[in-house]
Amino acid sequence: MAEASAVKLFDRLDEQPSDSLLQLIALANADPRPEKIDVGVGVYRDATGGTPIPRAVKKAEAILIETQQTKAYLGSQGDIRFIELIKPIVFGEAGAADDRIVGIQTPGGCGALRLGAELIEAADRQARVLVGQPTWPNHGPLIECAGVEMVGHPYYDAKSRTILFDEMMGAIGKARSGDLILLHGCCHNPTGADLNPDQWRAIADAVAKRGIIPFVDLAYQGLGNGFEADAAGTRLVVEAADQALVAQSCDKNFGIYRERTGSLFVKGSNRRTAEIILGHLQSRARTMWSMPPDHGAAVVRIILDDAELRADWNAEVTEMCARIRNLRARLAGYDERLAYIEGQNGMFSMLPLSPQAVLDLRASHGIYMAGSGRFNVVGLSDENVGRFAAAVVEKMDG
Ligand code: LMR
Repeated sequence: MAEASAVKLFDRLDEQPSDSLLQLIALANADPRPEKIDVGVGVYRDATGGTPIPRAVKKAEAILIETQQTKAYLGSQGDIRFIELIKPIVFGEAGAADDRIVGIQTPGGCGALRLGAELIEAADRQARVLVGQPTWPNHGPLIECAGVEMVGHPYYDAKSRTILFDEMMGAIGKARSGDLILLHGCCHNPTGADLNPDQWRAIADAVAKRGIIPFVDLAYQGLGNGFEADAAGTRLVVEAADQALVAQSCDKNFGIYRERTGSLFVKGSNRRTAEIILGHLQSRARTMWSMPPDHGAAVVRIILDDAELRADWNAEVTEMCARIRNLRARLAGYDERLAYIEGQNGMFSMLPLSPQAVLDLRASHGIYMAGSGRFNVVGLSDENVGRFAAAVVEKMDG
């Protein structure tokens, strides 16, 4: 029996607020109204409202089950062939040949972001990560959890629907050499407002000149304007900078969300530094998940190594991308106040809605979106896109 005065360690814990995006999934699922519209969490939905497993994934899974001989450990770097196949998709053929860029398989894009933060912390506890606001709500927790400070700067103004590029450049101008800047490679989450090629070039010049290290989050490649266009900005900044990090995810573009499949690539100043970096990535990974889960990466490897499966996967991502673009165009055509949505990319855009308006839309129309006014464009269906547009326009601030 414990003494009455015994310390009750876990009784000291405060209650944690639930993750707002994950809570939305539960709230939307529990709503019995058949006409409800779930545009909360970022998952792709097809015309029937389902989130299909891509054909190529199904086939690759069958091949994997048939042919896999062992599930013995692979090591902290994960599936090396998977890394070799992802590298040119992210960096192009020239980048893939750059031996200053090393890669490691991670549990999804979240694992890659967290591991990147661990590497920063190992290198310099004083280094700070600049981040444009608003950003994905999990960026702060993932990076700060490793003990790395984040410094916000304005990125987007929801009222005028514009990127605050001068403010962003001002923040880069004030950063210390050795600081990092978190950049959304494409399909900005939550705003959908991506940097244009001129802006990427200006950022590439500025980070190179000032010794700032780009830390790119590339979670939606292929779902904005195709694989090449979606990686163009990332390639520009990585090429320009002496050192860089890219957190990549296959969860969305392979439709394997719960398999947690991603990678972290880091560019060192030279081959020797890159090797040392890889050693640190492996030892930090060992302290967190030891080795990444295999299934998703094995499936991706099978697809990318097979010309037919790869072509089919590409075709399906192209269809997904076209569906997103089509829904964007339909929203834009509905009302001129929604016209800006067509020029944005990926799954998300933001509506200028007050938190109260978001709650009202939930109560009166069963529309589930994030409190910030972010909505998942591709959570809409052909049937409800008009209904959604009519309801939100009524409540918009401007
Ligand atoms: C989202 O932003 O909805 C997705 O990235 C899912 C998540 O993990 O939050």
